[in-house]
Amino acid sequence: MGAKKWRTHNPASSKRVIVTKELPGERWLNILTAADCQIEICTSPEVLSSEEIITAIGDRCDGAIGQLTEPWGDDLYAALKAAGGTAYSNYAVGFNNVDVDAATRHGIPVGNTPGVLTKTTAQMAVALTFAAARRVGEAERFLRQGLYKGWLPSLFMGNLLWRKTVGVIGAGRIGATYAQMMVEGHKMNLVYFDPYQNKALEDYLAGYSKFLKSQGRAPVSCKRSETIEDLLQEADCVSIHTILDETTHHLINAERLALMKTDAIIVNTSRGPVIDEAALVAHCQKHPDFRAGLDVFEDEPEMKPGLVELDNVVIVPHIASATSWTRQGMATLAASNVAAILRGYPAWQRPDISVFLEGESPRAAPSIVNAEALGIPAYQDGT
Ligand code: DGY
Repeated sequence: MGAKKWRTHNPASSKRVIVTKELPGERWLNILTAADCQIEICTSPEVLSSEEIITAIGDRCDGAIGQLTEPWGDDLYAALKAAGGTAYSNYAVGFNNVDVDAATRHGIPVGNTPGVLTKTTAQMAVALTFAAARRVGEAERFLRQGLYKGWLPSLFMGNLLWRKTVGVIGAGRIGATYAQMMVEGHKMNLVYFDPYQNKALEDYLAGYSKFLKSQGRAPVSCKRSETIEDLLQEADCVSIHTILDETTHHLINAERLALMKTDAIIVNTSRGPVIDEAALVAHCQKHPDFRAGLDVFEDEPEMKPGLVELDNVVIVPHIASATSWTRQGMATLAASNVAAILRGYPAWQRPDISVFLEGESPRAAPSIVNAEALGIPAYQDGT
């Protein structure tokens, strides 16, 4: 692979920050510029190898913004530390590509970008659910291939999910938002699985159900499932919103897929390895009425053999958060994490990060996942 191209923004500043991909918007550049950083941005679209990142870090680098496609482990944090680096942010809310313990050992804070992907990612999960339910990909391919010879009573019949049961695995921010979109939009009953009760979601949907009844309409229900197995058996469509770690790797495997209704839908916008993709391929081959909507893959950018040929699977290339508002917001948060740490600011660590997206931001790093481990103080009002 040829040498990657880089460009420099705000040269000859006192600090140096490397950014391993072009990021959208201007605000993030302004934030780092205001913190007196020279910003070196890789303009090549190919994924950088660890060796290339180490070369880019060089012998003087104060901070870095990396991508979810790069394994930020001990080697990279050692190189960053040796170059005088004190700040890293992932350009993502998920940080399964980061060895946080290694970063902590090297004394390097790790930032991420929560709060700006919630609705955008939930919306993509909804889009994949209905693209799968109503066979949008299949029907579009049919049309583009010139196979449409006129309206037919039984052409591409799909699933009407109205008032059916939606299952959500992982009812954090994104999962709960997806749940609300499906329950409110399609009057579905919710069953969710999460080690933690989402009381706010339960209360919200109880209130919504009461409202429906007050309008003379049938209520909806919300139930926290004791087990994933119960949820999979009950739901007509299931959307996955967990993090990826050793407890969720292959959470959905052949045995669990076999529990699902034969015409159910599974959607994944979290991380590919949460589903055993080879098992999913086998399941979809065996059950043509079963459908899947996937934004993420086990070995991105590769797909397991057979997946691409399956008409009952809708696939998109990890774009769930790809709206300009969200991607610019992620850039703002990643840059704010790095700039704030370089300035010695405390960690914000509050759920509402919208204060960082426009106007004057608080003097804090929006989200540092190892703040506590590194003893970075939490932001106090007025600091
Ligand atoms: C994230 O931020 O973790 C997403 O996967 C990017 O879309």
